[in-house]
Amino acid sequence: MATAAATLLLLLFLTAAASAWEMNIRLPTEMLNGGEAVVAPVIHALRPLLGSGGQLAARAGVACDSWRLGVEAHNVIGWKTVPARCEGYVGHYMLGGHYRRDSAVVVDEAVAYAESLQLAGNGKEIWVFDIDETSLSNLPYYAKHGFGATLYNDTSFREYVAEGSAPALPETRRLYRRLLQLGVKPVFLTGRTEDQRNITVTNLRRQGYSGWMELLLKPAVHAAGELQGSAVAYKSGERQKLEDAGFTIVGNIGDQWSDILGTPEGARTFKLPDPMYYIG
Ligand SMILES: *[C@@H]1O[C@H](CO)[C@@H](O)[C@H](O)[C@H]1NC(C)=O
Ligand SMILES: *[C@@H]1O[C@H](CO)[C@@H](O)[C@H](O)[C@H]1NC(C)=O
Repeated sequence: MATAAATLLLLLFLTAAASAWEMNIRLPTEMLNGGEAVVAPVIHALRPLLGSGGQLAARAGVACDSWRLGVEAHNVIGWKTVPARCEGYVGHYMLGGHYRRDSAVVVDEAVAYAESLQLAGNGKEIWVFDIDETSLSNLPYYAKHGFGATLYNDTSFREYVAEGSAPALPETRRLYRRLLQLGVKPVFLTGRTEDQRNITVTNLRRQGYSGWMELLLKPAVHAAGELQGSAVAYKSGERQKLEDAGFTIVGNIGDQWSDILGTPEGARTFKLPDPMYYIG
């Protein structure tokens, strides 16, 4: 009897776990806007064992937290997928409160920096924002694609972008709005392509972004293979054009090192977390 009851309990738990996980995957907007309070309890229930604060992973010799630190510090570069053993770890990091807390630290620093500036108020002061995993979150897509543990699929990612449904990363939106108040003009600089302009504008507006000075996209391509130039060269080139046009880049924020490397970087750069993919 005791065994049967225990089995039933386990089954109930697993069912609850599966549906809570599903809920998170289907309702990322609520999750993102609501903060930690509405994160499904299963995330917290599992985190002590498997999550980013957990001991099980370390005991098993699976140092996914060390791998993530290596990624964020730009020591681990050029990787194509999240290590298979770290898929669960990255999922918990992204869907639990950790990713949001780490993002908040970055944005708190950026806001404090912006507020400390002696701004000229000449309309030439700009802040460069990346889009994916910076202004908008593609977590709804990546949650269904192994949190980066499966190889990037340009076709299916573009289909997802075409829905225009990516939620805002609320921390970045908070920075964006503060900068507008301070008179610093936002400029979006993205690896998205010109053919994605309309849906990107629609998506940004839906998520509460407005009043940007420019939205800079890469030239449209007809085959994914044509997109070979490095992101550092492309993005730094675009920033150079902005400076040549007389603008001062007072800040620059992105989730990839390729957003913030390459002269001119901007007077100060801010790196948001992203353990799901690497763009060189
Ligand atoms: C990539 O995504 C497309 C569209 O969803 C799909 O048809 C294709 O099979 C995927 N390719 C791979 C290698 O999984
Ligand atoms: C984008 O929107 C503009 C203006 O609304 C329209 O003229 C243009 O045809 C659209 N482009 C695409 C690719 O849908």
